[in-house]
Amino acid sequence: MTDIHSQKILILDFGSQYTQLIARRVRELGVLSEIRSWDMPAADIEEFAPKAIILAGGPESVTEVDGPKAADVVYTMGLPVLGICYGMQTMAQELGGKVEASDIREFGYAQIKSEGDSKLFKNISDHVNDKGEKLLDVWMSHGDKVVAIPEGFKLMASTESCPIAGMYNEEKNFYGVQFHPEVTHSLQGGRMLEHFIKDIAGCEGLWTPANIIEDQIKRVQKQVGDKKVLLGLSGGVDSSVVAALLHKAIGDQLTCVFVDNGLLRKNEGDMVMDMFAKNMGVKVIRSDAADLFLGALKGVSDPELKRKAIGNTFIEVFDKEATAIKDVDFLAQGTIYPDVIESAASKTGKAHVIKSHHNVGGLPDDMKMDLVEPLRELFKDEVRKIGLELGLPYDMVYRHPFPGPGLGVRILGEVKKEYCDILREADAIFIEELHNFDWYHKTSQAFVVFLPVKSVGVVGDQRRYEWVVSLRAVETIDFMTARWAHLPYELLEKVSNRIINEIEHISRVAYDVSSKPPATIEWE
Ligand code: XMP
Repeated sequence: MTDIHSQKILILDFGSQYTQLIARRVRELGVLSEIRSWDMPAADIEEFAPKAIILAGGPESVTEVDGPKAADVVYTMGLPVLGICYGMQTMAQELGGKVEASDIREFGYAQIKSEGDSKLFKNISDHVNDKGEKLLDVWMSHGDKVVAIPEGFKLMASTESCPIAGMYNEEKNFYGVQFHPEVTHSLQGGRMLEHFIKDIAGCEGLWTPANIIEDQIKRVQKQVGDKKVLLGLSGGVDSSVVAALLHKAIGDQLTCVFVDNGLLRKNEGDMVMDMFAKNMGVKVIRSDAADLFLGALKGVSDPELKRKAIGNTFIEVFDKEATAIKDVDFLAQGTIYPDVIESAASKTGKAHVIKSHHNVGGLPDDMKMDLVEPLRELFKDEVRKIGLELGLPYDMVYRHPFPGPGLGVRILGEVKKEYCDILREADAIFIEELHNFDWYHKTSQAFVVFLPVKSVGVVGDQRRYEWVVSLRAVETIDFMTARWAHLPYELLEKVSNRIINEIEHISRVAYDVSSKPPATIEWE
């Protein structure tokens, strides 16, 4: 089998919010890319043995004394190098060009004029003007500017406010662009990256879902041998994909523990059992612990204390189940690449953290289990593609995220079983109608929140006082900021009518029109 790790692109990060996007774009081209900090030592870069290097953007200025710069080997190993934004500036400065500082940053759409005849821009143009010049629509971001290109380089792109918006040295395969080819606003940015990765750096498309699965199966088999592995299965995308992958790799050596905490969505527990235990034949122990969780939540109304109570109870239940399974040597986790990057950024050296998230961590030290983390190299979109390739249904793989504490933070104040049951029904109606109206996948997260207040309604001749719920639906890319979804009125009307008519104890439905910030996505 081909070694899918044999061709990789090294991305040196200077702190830009777009760095992960560059890595994902490269991987979409079927080539492995890894992000490292700009100060990666020369020896490590050599050992990493990339096929090419991308210098990413960053907030600093190269004109400052001690501004961040990559090790010299980047330019002396004979590898293709692409500098993006700050990456182009540092390349210019290091190779003898000149960069001028500026306090003003320009962000947004720009039309650049394509200059020269580089391989990077080969056969790429969005418009041609009266003079026959090729123009490209791009997402520009600059403050500092390259004002003199290094010797041996030619001009590749220009705009009025940024006369040197791109440069290249085809002999050395060095390219610099001041704009961001990785964002979709740069219309043909994807093709530019493809030219760099495939034509210039000569990478093939080895990094495909099928190859990744085959590779991971081999690795897991090698790591685990004939030992036993335990996995906390939550029904979320990551743990589900780990379950499917490990089942394929080691079959019966895998045991999953699924904790039903009574705070799950309608039919969720049965769905997980049907899918994994019944259909796929995975060994899953279902622990029905709703009473225990509700007991721990009794009288608790502070959101953080509720989270703690749920987290602690989870650990208690999971540990009890885990200890009952004898001779387990490995604990599997759904750690994904962004977790690895994050932890590497917050610590020094090679971090190997256990997610603090309550549904994966917390095993007692004396269990001494090694970790199996088959998704460690993957971005979320890759995890999803692998899930599909492993035969998991689209609906499961592309489901909205669900918080660990579940309905526990969607019932404001004290959690009671009665509220959970009402909320589950209302939530199921909302989600069903989002699917019916073809809006589910246009929102990033949608759910119903239970408000423990009573409001009046009239049913027949009777006035009745019943509970209030609010619908919440947001659109977001990273869940750090979010816009409330502009759902059609017909959809809201249908959901509201159904909830009030079908659920006896709800008299009123509201729609949350708060964006994040300042509001958060969840209500607690
Ligand atoms: P907020 O409400 O902070 O939510 O805007 C951002 C994202 O995080 C999820 N979330 C949680 N996930 N445990 C989790 O596992 C939690 O305690 C928790 N609180 C919020 C939320 O659903 C959204 O996707």
